[in-house]
Amino acid sequence: MKRKPMTILMAAVLVAYSLPSRAADPLPWMNPTLSADQRASLVLKEMKQEEKLAMVFGYFGSDTWKTKKHQTALPASAGYVPGVPRLGVPALFETDAGIGVASQPADSPRERTALPSNLAIAATWDRQLAYAGGAMIGAEARASGFNVMLAGGVNLARDPRNGRNFEYGGEDPLLAGTMVAQQIKGVESNHLISTMKHLAMNDQETGRGELDAHIDDVGARMSDLLAMQFVIEQARPGAVMCSYNRVNGVYACENDYLLNDVLKKDWNFQGYVMSDWGAVHSTVAAANHGLDQQSGSEFDKSPYFAGALEDAVATGQVPQQRLDDMVRRILRAMFDKGVVDHPVSAGAAIDFAANASRSREAAEDSLVLLKNTGNVLPLSTSLKTIVVIGAHADVGVLSGGGSSQVYPVGGNAVKGLQPSSWPGPVVYFPSSPLQAIKAHAPNAQVLYDAGDDPVKAAQLAAKADAVLVFAQQWIGEANDALTLSLPGRQDALITAVAEANPRTVVVLETSGPVAMPWLARTAAVLEAWYPGTSGGAAIGRVLFGEVNPSGHLPLSFPQSEAQLPRPVLGGDPTKSNQNLVVNYHEGAAVGYKWYDRQGLKPMFPFGHGLSYTQFAYSDLVAEQDHGQMRLRFKVTNVGKLAGKDVPQVYVTPLGSRWEAPKRLAGWDKVTLQAGESRTVALQVDPRLLAMYDGKDKTWRIAAGKVRFSLAHDAGGTVGASVVVQLKARTLGLAGQPAGR
Ligand code: BGC
Repeated sequence: MKRKPMTILMAAVLVAYSLPSRAADPLPWMNPTLSADQRASLVLKEMKQEEKLAMVFGYFGSDTWKTKKHQTALPASAGYVPGVPRLGVPALFETDAGIGVASQPADSPRERTALPSNLAIAATWDRQLAYAGGAMIGAEARASGFNVMLAGGVNLARDPRNGRNFEYGGEDPLLAGTMVAQQIKGVESNHLISTMKHLAMNDQETGRGELDAHIDDVGARMSDLLAMQFVIEQARPGAVMCSYNRVNGVYACENDYLLNDVLKKDWNFQGYVMSDWGAVHSTVAAANHGLDQQSGSEFDKSPYFAGALEDAVATGQVPQQRLDDMVRRILRAMFDKGVVDHPVSAGAAIDFAANASRSREAAEDSLVLLKNTGNVLPLSTSLKTIVVIGAHADVGVLSGGGSSQVYPVGGNAVKGLQPSSWPGPVVYFPSSPLQAIKAHAPNAQVLYDAGDDPVKAAQLAAKADAVLVFAQQWIGEANDALTLSLPGRQDALITAVAEANPRTVVVLETSGPVAMPWLARTAAVLEAWYPGTSGGAAIGRVLFGEVNPSGHLPLSFPQSEAQLPRPVLGGDPTKSNQNLVVNYHEGAAVGYKWYDRQGLKPMFPFGHGLSYTQFAYSDLVAEQDHGQMRLRFKVTNVGKLAGKDVPQVYVTPLGSRWEAPKRLAGWDKVTLQAGESRTVALQVDPRLLAMYDGKDKTWRIAAGKVRFSLAHDAGGTVGASVVVQLKARTLGLAGQPAGR
C-alpha cells in the first residue's frame, strides 16, 4: 500500500522531464539523461545524515514483515532496506537467489519457477541459455515486487562435498565466471540489481561462520578471484555480497585486501558491497575496509551499522567521506540498473506455464550422459516392460536446500522428509519422471518401486526390458555432504538391481559428484542434477531421445575422497566456534588442474558428456594478431542424429610452469545436423596464457611454446592440437597491455 504514492510521484517526475524548463526541479536526479554517477551525487547532497545511515542498514525481510517494523517489507523475503520517499529513492526489496525467486520457509512461501540448479546451468556451457534463465527468474522477481536479486553465486567448486556447489558455477574460473556473468546480466535486464556472491573463498559450508581460508595472493587471483573478476568485468553487477568466513585471518566483510584492494581498486568495481546475513563482525573495520551495507542485521551479534556507525562517524573513526561513499555506491547501482526509473510493484501476473517450458529447455541442455554402454539409451518407445525405481521418481524431482530454496508451483511433491527445518524442508518439484516415462512409452507396462527393499526391487527389475534406477543426494546451505557416497542404502539398491538386470540405467539427482561403486555393473548413467520445475519432463525427453543430451561436466567427478586435496573435510559439522583453519594448499590448482598435477585419473573428467551422436574435430588453427590469440577449428557431426556439441580448447605450457599442466582456454556450444560441419572461432583471454605477479599486480606471459588442444573433455582425449610460440609480454590486471 505504502509504495503506491511513490509510484505516482515517480510518474509525475518522469512526465516533468518532458517539459522544457527544469529550473525548479525538486528532484533533479530523476532526469534519466544524467549519468548514474551524476544522479547519485545529486541525491547524496540532499540527504540528511539519518537518511544516509538508514540506507546502509538492512533488515531480515521476513521478520520485518511479520513484526510490521516496516510496512512495505515483503513476506517470506530475505532482505529489506528502507528508501527515502521524500527524495524519490525506493526501498530495496531483496530476494534470493540464482535458481529462482526463493522464499524464507517460516512464512507461507510464494510459489515460483525454479531453473535447474546453477551448477546444472553451468553444465549446459551455453551462454545464451544462462542469460535467458537469468532474465526469466529476474522477471519473476520483479513481478513479485523485488528489486534486488541475491543471485550470482560463483564460489569455485574446490571441494565436491561443498553443500552449496549446486548454487555455483563449477570448478573452472573461465567457465564459472562466464556463465554466472551471463546469468547476472539476464537478471539485471529486468531493471534489477543482482549480486555476485560470496566474496570470497566460502568454498565449504562446515564451520563457515568462522572458517579461516588460507591461500596466497597468486593462488587466489588465479582461481576463485579470477572467476569473480571475470564476472565483474563481463556483467558489472550492481552489488557484491561478502562471505561469512575469514580469508587469511580476516573476516571477508572487513577484509581490506578483498573489498578495497582487489574488488574496488584492482577491479574498479563501482557498485556496493553488502554483507551476507550474519557476516558482519565490526563497525569501524568493516566500514573502513570496504563494506557498504549491513544486510539482515538481525543475524549479526550487533547492529554494527546503526547507532555504532553513527557514533564512529561523529568521532571521525569512520570518515564522513566514507559514509558518503557507501551511500553513493548504493544509489549509483540503483540508478545504473534502473531500480529508480522502473519501480517494482508486487502482484504482476507471471506466465508459469511459459516459464516452466523455459526451465525444461534449460534442464534438457544440462543433463550429462556420463556412460552409455551398448547404446542402451535412448530407450525405444516400443519397450514392453519398464521398471522405475527409487528417489520418489513417481512424483517429482529433488532440489537443494537453504536460502536459495524455491517453492514449487503446485506444492512440495514429497512432504514430511527430514530435515524439515532450515536448511530444509526437503522439497521435490512436482514434475514426475514416471509420468514422463509413461507418456513416452504408451504401450509399455511401466511399474514403479520405491526402492526401499533392494531384494524386492531386484526381483521386479530382473524381468524388465529396461530398468531406470533414480538416486538422490539432498544437500544444502550450511550442510556439506560429509561423504561422496549416496545417502542411505542407495548404493546397495543400485548394485542389487544392476546384478539382476544388466540393462540398468541410473539417473542421478545430486548436487554434484557422488561415488559410484556400482558403475561397472550399470549400462548407463545420466546426471540430472537438481533439474528444477520441469525436471521430470526433461529427464523423460532425454531418456527417450526426443532430446539429444548435450550437458558437459562443469566439475570433475573423482573416484573417491582419497583423490581430493583434503580427503577429510575440514572441521566438525556439529560444532560452531571451532576456530577452523582450512589451508587451500592446492592454490589455483582447483578441480581438473589438481588431478592433472597429481597425476590422478578422476572417475569422469571435467568437460565430459556423451551424446547420441558423435562429433569430430579438425583444422585447428591459432593466429596471433596484435597480441590477441584467436583459434579456429572445424566441428563435424559424424553420427546419424542431430545434436549439440561442446568443443573445448585446453592450453598447456611446454617451456614454463603454471599451476597445473593445462587450463581451459575457451569453448563453444554448437548445434549440428547429422553430417553437418561448422567452423568455430574463439578468442583466448591473454590472462589464461600468463601467471599472475603479485609484486607489481600484472599478468606475465613467458616467452616460449604452448600447445592448444581441442578436446571433448579434460581427460586427455585430444581431437587436434597446435603448438604456438609466445612472446614475453606483461599485461595489466584486466589483461590489457601493461601501462594502459
Ligand atoms: C546466504 C546468502 C543469502 C542470504 C539471504 C545467507 O544465509 O549465505 O547466500 O543470500 O542468506 O537469504
